[in-house]
Amino acid sequence: MSEHIRTSVLFVCLGNICRSPTAEGVFTALVERHGLAGSILVDSCGTGDWHIGRAPDSRATAAAAKRGYDLRHLRARQVNIDDFDRYHYILAMDESNLRDLQALRPHHHKGHLGLFLEFAPNGDLVDVPDPYYRGDEGFVQVLDLIESASAGLLQRIVGEHS
Ligand code: 4NP
Repeated sequence: MSEHIRTSVLFVCLGNICRSPTAEGVFTALVERHGLAGSILVDSCGTGDWHIGRAPDSRATAAAAKRGYDLRHLRARQVNIDDFDRYHYILAMDESNLRDLQALRPHHHKGHLGLFLEFAPNGDLVDVPDPYYRGDEGFVQVLDLIESASAGLLQRIVGEHS
């Protein structure tokens, strides 16, 4: 039963200014639409430290706003070892992010560490492609992939608790 859900999700990319803040904004909105805001903690971070403290990339913010998601309040942070104890699901945007997280993972970690797109139904892609050096269409693709995987992830979480 959904009112008994107590879980937490951390989305991870490289810089925490494009893909993972987009995933945080999209998944948070989905959770709120399902009345689960008090039940599922959502956050994002980056494996790198270049953009700590910065707001999301303006292209990500603009693309998200066109679909009704507000990313402007988010600030980049770097992953840290305590995240492995705090979050039930740690979801990497691409295989490179996942390798970096696996290298940091404490031996006692029992949570779910994997690729976010494993939750996207019928998807062919393994990675959410890094849009940083691409044009606006890269950010649209990021949103499409993230919306799809977010729906699958919420379905999984609700299913696990029903
Ligand atoms: P993100 O995109 O990992 O989706 O936030 C990137 C942001 C910045 C850089 C690379 C990827 N960078 O090289 O600074």
